[in-house]
Amino acid sequence: MCCRRLCIFRLAFAIAFPEPFTSKTMPSTSVPDYIIVGGGLCGLVLAARLSEDPGVSVCVLESGSETFHDENIDVPANLAQTWGNPNYDWAFFSTPQKEAGARPIFLPRGKGLGGSTLINVMELTRASSVEYDAIEELGNPGWNWNEFLKYFKKSETFTYSPQEVEPYGMHFDDNAHGTDGPLKKTFPRYMDTLVQPALQTADTLGIRRISDPSAGDNRGIFVATKSIDTNATRSSAASAYYEPNKNRPNLNILTGARVGRLLTVKGSSSGIVIRGVEYLQGDALKVLEASKEVILCAGSYQTPKILELSGIGDPSIIGKLGIPVVLDLKSVGANHQDHLVYTFTFRLKGKLETYDSMQEPEVAERQKKLYTEERTGLLSATPSLFAFLPLRTVDKDDIILDSARKMKLEDANTAAQKTLKLQQQWLVNDRIPWIDINFIDRFMPGPGANFEPGKAYMTINVMLLHPFNRGSVHITSPDPLQNPVIELNAFDNDVDLAISVETYKFARKFSTTGPLGALVEEEICPATELKTDDDIKEFLRQSLGSSFHPIGTVGMLPEKDGGCVDPSLKVYGTANLRVVDASIIPINISAHLQATLYAIAEKAADIIKKGV
Ligand SMILES: Cc1cc2nc3c(=O)[nH]c(=O)nc-3n(C[C@H](O)[C@H](O)[C@H](O)COP(=O)(O)OP(=O)(O)OC[C@H]3O[C@@H](n4cnc5c(N)ncnc54)[C@H](O)[C@@H]3O)c2cc1C
Ligand SMILES: *[C@@H]1O[C@H](CO)[C@@H](O)[C@H](O)[C@H]1NC(C)=O
Ligand SMILES: *[C@@H]1O[C@H](CO)[C@@H](O)[C@H](O)[C@H]1NC(C)=O
Repeated sequence: MCCRRLCIFRLAFAIAFPEPFTSKTMPSTSVPDYIIVGGGLCGLVLAARLSEDPGVSVCVLESGSETFHDENIDVPANLAQTWGNPNYDWAFFSTPQKEAGARPIFLPRGKGLGGSTLINVMELTRASSVEYDAIEELGNPGWNWNEFLKYFKKSETFTYSPQEVEPYGMHFDDNAHGTDGPLKKTFPRYMDTLVQPALQTADTLGIRRISDPSAGDNRGIFVATKSIDTNATRSSAASAYYEPNKNRPNLNILTGARVGRLLTVKGSSSGIVIRGVEYLQGDALKVLEASKEVILCAGSYQTPKILELSGIGDPSIIGKLGIPVVLDLKSVGANHQDHLVYTFTFRLKGKLETYDSMQEPEVAERQKKLYTEERTGLLSATPSLFAFLPLRTVDKDDIILDSARKMKLEDANTAAQKTLKLQQQWLVNDRIPWIDINFIDRFMPGPGANFEPGKAYMTINVMLLHPFNRGSVHITSPDPLQNPVIELNAFDNDVDLAISVETYKFARKFSTTGPLGALVEEEICPATELKTDDDIKEFLRQSLGSSFHPIGTVGMLPEKDGGCVDPSLKVYGTANLRVVDASIIPINISAHLQATLYAIAEKAADIIKKGV
């Protein structure tokens, strides 16, 4: 964004809205019933569902643009090409992480109609039923596995044939999958060279194969279903929920519209009333009012930011920035949870055809033809094989368990305490996966790793699903164009580090054993042998990154427990403001988030339609 625009935005904010907005400026004819801030995953689901009623008008404000039929988005294997590119990605960074080599961690977030579903890895699966039930037990009636299942099914259409999944030991439970929802779900048509060897190695290590990881029990190893259409193109929130409905006269979508803050009025007996929003479009600062509700769907980093800019949050944080406090809600931006993820890489023997082979013109041409003509091959796929394993898999003697149970959690903030205590109970619950290992048939940059063209690589991506660190997302300026400050507090406790060390040893053993190990020529990252636990710790600190699923910054919990929204997703203390996006998830689950978010947004649409 050019400097002139920046200055105008800042100035306009200062001049036009020195106080919470109170006077009426918009002609009421253009006032929609609902304003949705952010046209990402949740925003577009809500827009589609609420505008099913022709008598209801909806306006979506999205910062990014509309990008249909763009190969960087549609072709599955192109996915990483959008990361860091400002046309598609907000490309945030965390603060430098003290315990991770003082490095800021890269945090991509999708921009444009479709949000992060334009740039994500398309893995589409669910956590275990116990974890969804736990969301209800935290104080959120109605948010349990049975309800989630209903909405998982409503959101998707699953197309597969039993013969194609059989060779991987899978049998889907048809009762657990949707048949006529907007999002397209398929089983990978092209299986990379790592899948069968890794499945066989898992057998030798006693790791079970799961026939259907989406039916409430996801412990074990499996080939993941994907948000990919039957013609091998990405199914995103935009292609699934927006494109078919874009001509509805009651659905108005404004792109290039960046919301700064909410227009609030005090005085209603049911709380603060939100009249509308202020946004910047081009160089113009504009105002849009809503006759019913404003719904924030800007994601885990930007929803808390908009709340704080609007004076809703912790007074000790926003007050010192000169923002008048409209509503004291201390947990806004707190309880931020981010997984810990690290990778290590091997060079493979011989001449296997993997994603890296596409650097050779002959392979690239052949694969392109295969994709265009038969909708299969390397370009049609993303890494498919996942192992979700309980802590006991790597902690056979309960050593980590013992220290984890002794962790003192009193210093954490209120919202964090409740979920941390629950996690402590989960340590001993073998129904809850703690580790996610993903086998990737390509080179990924890591400390000391060198890429040699013409060779094939395997990168192992390991995630800790329930780490004990808690971070925060807060503004440090009243300027809506400044990024929020994202603190992860990665590795701020010994337990996460100890679990990571044991997990690394286990994942490394897995990759170098049996049929999978037989593919390996040399370990190239880490570049030197790690002899002691301290060596491993140092490597993990250098390798640590994000797997891109931030949650919890506007948590759904009882207010006394540090919640920001109630079970109808209404912000406490407001009459007509809801949050529907990943920030409401109070505790992490053992699945990548998108399936869960489609279900959350589908359920939210029903709640809003009922006017609860
Ligand atoms: C690189 C990457 C890979 C991932 N891989 C997977 C995967 O394989 N499987 C999986 O299940 N999940 C994956 N995810 C996670 C999943 O895609 C996200 O959790 C999900 O899309 C979040 O949905 P959301 O509605 O909360 O936010 P988003 O989908 O991010 O949407 C937020 C929208 O709000 C807009 N916005 C923000 N601020 C403003 C503002 N001030 N004014 C107007 N608009 C605004 C943004 O531009 C964006 O379009 C991945 C995520 C990333 C980033
Ligand atoms: C794939 O199918 C979708 C409809 O489900 C369609 O919109 C899209 O254009 C198709 N893409 C190609 C490349 O055929
Ligand atoms: C939650 O767990 C998933 C794996 O299931 C992981 O990919 C993600 O990064 C985790 N997110 C957080 C916020 O811990």
